[in-house]
Amino acid sequence: MSSMAEDIKAKREELGISIKELADATGMPKDGDKILRAWESGAEKPDKKQYKKIMEFASERPYVVQTRKPLFKYIDLFAGIGGIRIPFQENGGMCVFTSEWDSFAQKTYTVNFGGEIYGDITKVNIERDIPDFDILLGGFPCQPFSQAGLHKGFSDTRGTLFFNIEEIIRIKRPKAFLLENVKQLKGHDHGRTYKVIEEHLKALDYTVTAKVLRAGDFGVPQNRERIYIVGFDRNYFGLPEDYEFEFPVPPKTPTRLGDILEKKVDPKYTISQRLYDGHLRRKEEHKQKGNGFGFSLFTKDSEYTNTLSARYYKDGSEILIDQGNGSLPRKLTPRECARLQGFPENFIIPVSDTRAYKQFGNSVAVPVIREIAKNLLSTMQKLEIDING
Ligand SMILES: C[S@@+](CC[C@H](N)C(=O)[O-])C[C@H]1O[C@@H](n2cnc3c(N)ncnc32)[C@H](O)[C@@H]1O
Repeated sequence: MSSMAEDIKAKREELGISIKELADATGMPKDGDKILRAWESGAEKPDKKQYKKIMEFASERPYVVQTRKPLFKYIDLFAGIGGIRIPFQENGGMCVFTSEWDSFAQKTYTVNFGGEIYGDITKVNIERDIPDFDILLGGFPCQPFSQAGLHKGFSDTRGTLFFNIEEIIRIKRPKAFLLENVKQLKGHDHGRTYKVIEEHLKALDYTVTAKVLRAGDFGVPQNRERIYIVGFDRNYFGLPEDYEFEFPVPPKTPTRLGDILEKKVDPKYTISQRLYDGHLRRKEEHKQKGNGFGFSLFTKDSEYTNTLSARYYKDGSEILIDQGNGSLPRKLTPRECARLQGFPENFIIPVSDTRAYKQFGNSVAVPVIREIAKNLLSTMQKLEIDING
């Protein structure tokens, strides 16, 4: 076996990913896994540029769980690819439990963070499977509650994923939690959904403060608005019922789409004439109906884009990049999506483009979480001093 073949194999094994995953992660073409297999076996040789690209690829998981004494422990529910986790890890926390049932999200999560991932949270045995922790993190899916709804006991949230969060909080009594959801959660089902959530958390003796924050106000060029709900254990910290957590003040640093765009982009991201014609036709139909829906074009000078969604992989309609010179527009690359969500540059994307678009669309704007995490942790520290001196 040539040393090139050995180097490539060693690189992949260090990362603990399959041939297909490394091929996807390094942006190789569709049959990249076959090519990579041939390189690894020594049957074929990559050219210098191809070899360099693989050798320059990350060798380590960028966010491995620290073994040193953590400042606090947290759990990551509905973890996706760990967007909420990153700032808590940066601030000296240790993740002691993760739940995510999608196998492709698990792949991205594992390659970046390592550690075990629990699957379906509805199947968890809370006392047995979840170790003690200080902070619960969860960007949970939004679901309606039954009509029985308000002012009832636990039974009325059963069957929804919020119930699983509620149960974990009830049994494990973390000091604090951070929940994230779509902005529409507040208005969902005429406001009932949010009201049930708030009442149930308050009934567990937690403070509840919610705020909608916009990613674009935190330095990433994306108009993504999300609701964040933060709570503290009133019994532990001795807090009054009307205690309000102070969310961070958005720094509102100016943003520009061009700052996150890649310099050289593979022509495969340029959409076809057929797809573009379809976009134009649908836009015209929407216009006739008097609404502003349809695809949206952005340039490098745009201040921000629309919200990146999990369906971006379908046709890219919410964010198309104008390439000028009469060229057809293009979609964002997965790396640009990572940047639009403020993920660090060393975050590894080990999945196909389609999966990556879904994962980043489902994820969070990391810089917003980073600022919330700072406030949450400093608040927790102050409250601890208040009670323990
Ligand atoms: C809105 S996404 C959260 C993404 C995450 N905040 C991130 O940074 O990537 C919700 C996630 O919950 C996961 N999920 C939904 N139902 C689940 C269940 N019963 N058990 C575990 N994970 C679940 C989905 O697969 C999805 O990845």
